[in-house]
Amino acid sequence: MDRIYLDHAATSPLHPSVTETIVSVMQSSFGNPSSIHSYGRDARKILDESRMALADSIGADFSEMVFTSGGTEADNLAIIGIARANRQKGQHIITSQIEHHAVLHTCQFLEKDGFDVTYLTPDDTGRITVQSVKEALRPDTILVTIMYGNNEVGTIQPVKEIGELLKSHQAYFHTDAVQAYGTIRMNVKELGVNLLSVSGHKINGPKGVGFLYIKSGTTITPNVFGGEQELKRRAGTENLAAIAGFAKAATLSINSIDEKKELYYCLRNTFIETLKAEEIDFQINGSTEYFLPHVLNISFPNTDVEPMLVNLDMAGIAASSGSACTAGSLEPSHVLVAMYGHDSQRIKNSIRFSFGLGNTKEDIITAAKETAKIVKRLQN
Ligand SMILES: Cc1ncc(COP(=O)(O)O)c(C=O)c1O
Repeated sequence: MDRIYLDHAATSPLHPSVTETIVSVMQSSFGNPSSIHSYGRDARKILDESRMALADSIGADFSEMVFTSGGTEADNLAIIGIARANRQKGQHIITSQIEHHAVLHTCQFLEKDGFDVTYLTPDDTGRITVQSVKEALRPDTILVTIMYGNNEVGTIQPVKEIGELLKSHQAYFHTDAVQAYGTIRMNVKELGVNLLSVSGHKINGPKGVGFLYIKSGTTITPNVFGGEQELKRRAGTENLAAIAGFAKAATLSINSIDEKKELYYCLRNTFIETLKAEEIDFQINGSTEYFLPHVLNISFPNTDVEPMLVNLDMAGIAASSGSACTAGSLEPSHVLVAMYGHDSQRIKNSIRFSFGLGNTKEDIITAAKETAKIVKRLQN
């Protein structure tokens, strides 16, 4: 059975050129970038070139980039780092109910430490309005953290407009761009953000590596202590091969961003049109105006997410619910609950399909037809 991977928002396969880069760095450059000798200098050159390429990809300066172990650590550093360093200016933080748990659980941790967090509710398309941010702002707000594109339903947030709003406020602005980076062109100066998180494994790069952009002049406390790496903002010997692979993946991704976008729109439309042709009853969750083209979240009335996923898997199709699987039970997605409420059927019957490297139009037609068959079977 040929399998079809439609879970690229969870993680994505390594691009073959990225694998080549990683292997080559592992084989030829084992030096510690902090060492003075030639082995260290060789490693430092690779580290510097990677940092430069990644900084260029978002319009940042070389010194504004901090390598981390991924999106989760970047989010933790941004939120805890800003909160601790700016406590004397205020203890209020604004975020949204639909953030990734890397943000939500970090905010909950800070609440236990005395911070006051406002969790904004999205509209039923998954959008946070600029007006709601404006209304929640207080003189003691020190941080606003709103994601760029949602990982479950794909809705894109008005990041630039929020950046504009915050220009006249003391609050720092962080955006978790883990899911949007690589599909949406972004420039930190134009967005008006102070901090931006990115992860390698969502863009056909390696897992366990990411970066946090920290605008120069931003006051932040480190979360990891030790050596003086990353200009004392994140201690620990850099994961050189992964960083080089990440930079390679980013370069490939940014260079092909327009073609990728076009392909994902086509795959998304093909999936939707095939379901329609099969006369399936379904609804799209999320915005149909502001969305990440690679994420398609669909509610299938009168089905249940667990048998849907099991049947899809048996048919060779890897998709996911937005739910976290805890101790064998599927928890309802906090994103869908925030959008539709606890009583909505959509929180029990929605599946996320996400597209990426290797998917063809033929794959999508096959996957949509199989999905339609399963939906019909389960609805009976
Ligand atoms: C929006 C978002 N933020 C953060 C993360 C966490 O990134 P990582 O897996 O690199 O820790 C993810 C990964 O699923 C994500 O989708």
